[in-house]
Amino acid sequence: MISLGIDIGSRNTKICLFDTVSQTIIHTDYCGTEVNPVDSVKYLLSQVPSDLDISAITHSAVTGYGRHLWKDAANTLSEISCHAAGICYLIPGTRTIIDIGGQDSKIIALDDNSRVVDFVMNDKCAAGTGRFLEMTAMRLGLEIGHLSSVAARSDQDYALSSTCVVFAESEIIGLMSQAVSSANIARSVNRSIAKRIHSQMAGLANQEPIVFTGGVAQSDDIRYCLEQELKLSLMLPPDPEITGALGAAILAGKK
Ligand SMILES: Nc1ncnc2c1ncn2[C@@H]1O[C@H](COP(=O)(O)OP(=O)(O)OP(=O)(O)O)[C@@H](O)[C@H]1O
Ligand SMILES: [Mg+2]
Repeated sequence: MISLGIDIGSRNTKICLFDTVSQTIIHTDYCGTEVNPVDSVKYLLSQVPSDLDISAITHSAVTGYGRHLWKDAANTLSEISCHAAGICYLIPGTRTIIDIGGQDSKIIALDDNSRVVDFVMNDKCAAGTGRFLEMTAMRLGLEIGHLSSVAARSDQDYALSSTCVVFAESEIIGLMSQAVSSANIARSVNRSIAKRIHSQMAGLANQEPIVFTGGVAQSDDIRYCLEQELKLSLMLPPDPEITGALGAAILAGKK
């Protein structure tokens, strides 16, 4: 029996096919979320290798901000429960999850039975999200995937004073006009994101092991800045993009 998990995020749409008998991942994929997110799901399903028979899907669930747009899934689930299920499958014993996506950031607290006991979600401000990185990459003329290695070459810390991405963009333009290096600008943005996440975590137990996931977890430099800011070490899942879709597939298989 195969379950299908779909995560329609603000930035990327992901799918996961999960064998509910052997409890193993059999396929994952993702693409940018289209203006009509239904097209993204259709595209990803069309790309499933032909040796995987998608007509054999017995269970399905959809999560993410666009979850209400996809009507063909049997279940609609919250992102919090899906990230928790996906991460606890990959890293059993996880007590705290930091998910930083394109538009929001979530901190999830779990008990020692992997049950969600608390969470905090920031979906009001782009400052602690991938949106801030996208703006920075665009301003510095870099691919988002190169920002981390550029930031790692930083030799001087600049504290960004703006707590809003719109004002931070002006501040970055100002730093560029003073010939501040791209490395130092990229690091200052990463430190700013780390500070934002740290303040979002205030009030939660923040017990270890702490797992960092979501697209932004692909940045080694943000992980480094977060570990310095939190004075804690973070674990990473093998593919941080797909943990929500994986969790949706796992939970769908239990219904
Ligand atoms: N190599 C990378 N380094 C850092 N950030 C990256 C990298 N690749 C992608 N990202 C960031 O990951 C974000 C997308 O992550 P993800 O797919 O988890 O978001 P989403 O689920 O679509 O968004 P949300 O959960 O906020 O609705 C992009 O905004 C981008 O900034
Ligand atoms: Mg997401």
